[in-house]
Amino acid sequence: MGVRVLVIGSGGREHALLIGLRNDPSVTDLHVAPGNAGTAAIATNHAVDAVSSDEVVALAQKVGADLVVIGPEVPLVVGVADALRAAGIATFGPSAAAAQIEGSKAFAKDVMNAAGVRTAHAEVVDNPGRLDAALDRFGPTWVVKDDGLAAGKGVVVTTDRDAARDHAAECLESGHPVLLESFLDGPEVSLFCLVDGETVVPLLPAQDHKRVGDNDAGPNTGGMGAYTPLPWLPAEMTARIVDEVVKPVAAEMVRRGIPFSGLLYAGLAIGQDGPAVVEFNCRFGDPETQAVLALLESPLGRALHATATGTLADLPPLEWREGAAVTVVVAAEYYPGKPRTGDVITGAEAAGVLHAGTARNADGAIVSAGGRVLAVVGTGDDLAEAREQAYARIEKIKLPGSHFRTDIGRNALEGRISI
Ligand code: GLY
Repeated sequence: MGVRVLVIGSGGREHALLIGLRNDPSVTDLHVAPGNAGTAAIATNHAVDAVSSDEVVALAQKVGADLVVIGPEVPLVVGVADALRAAGIATFGPSAAAAQIEGSKAFAKDVMNAAGVRTAHAEVVDNPGRLDAALDRFGPTWVVKDDGLAAGKGVVVTTDRDAARDHAAECLESGHPVLLESFLDGPEVSLFCLVDGETVVPLLPAQDHKRVGDNDAGPNTGGMGAYTPLPWLPAEMTARIVDEVVKPVAAEMVRRGIPFSGLLYAGLAIGQDGPAVVEFNCRFGDPETQAVLALLESPLGRALHATATGTLADLPPLEWREGAAVTVVVAAEYYPGKPRTGDVITGAEAAGVLHAGTARNADGAIVSAGGRVLAVVGTGDDLAEAREQAYARIEKIKLPGSHFRTDIGRNALEGRISI
């Protein structure tokens, strides 16, 4: 019997998940809520509020979903997965309690400390009167994080103390505590793991490019591009990250009575002493997912269903296509500030063009509807070929005022990343 799947979310990550699910022969029906102009080509879009547990459960029941896959963190943190499970629906994504690993940076630090996992030294500041003294205990590079969900934009990494202070003061004024962290040196890796209690299955390691401009210039974004695998990462490092980081954290969550079920995303800095955690996320990363899933050969629906139903340990090993994949984000004018939306896009229905912030206007044209508008994926026998294909595909897209980074994966290709 075929599996009916409902995906929650509307970004490039969800478009990539839907493409992966469509390629799984056991998946017969695909639904998404709310989706975007691109997802409508391969799934049925439903105008449902993704953070309303009642609306999501009602939709899952209406479409007869055998599996619900929750893409973004906000529905997870507010408990949409709990509501689905309570209604007896198999769900890929952690409970609200387990999603705190992303929702509260202070909670994540506590879990890591208990699990003996290497991470930055951190202090939570919730009193503006204590901010200056705390800032003096850090530097010369300050890492200032909003202790809440900020879509990747709540982090400022800077050698400018005034800029660090301004960001911290802004978070405190808006009522959020801030986390000051020591700076972790070394290239960053995103390792996504399917986790079901203490069972951990890693996907391919990837690297995101978080700053808006080439050569890491400008402010942080939700992610401007990614590539996988990482030619500079020693082959044994994935197993080391699983053993030293992900498994101890998964075991600590089980010990606390809040087992993690879903996708645990370890964001790491790989230093000379090995991996150290920059952050955890409780869901697939965007835009790394678009590159990672482009190389997955095993059926995605089966892997997600096994995780959701507590049978991940029985899943056969994942198989991957040889070669490399690159994804490059095409962003709207002014992103990561307030993006301009409503511009008509041409060339967005081509192969490898995944949609993130897109919609149809009254004339039926595809228009921009968010900051990150498209995620363009290229694959090839190696990183050079994958980059070539991604950038050749971008050439054919027109979106007034848009911008993208031209250097995704370039440092790796030119051998400029080392541990
Ligand atoms: N790639 C960054 C994130 O998904 O948070």
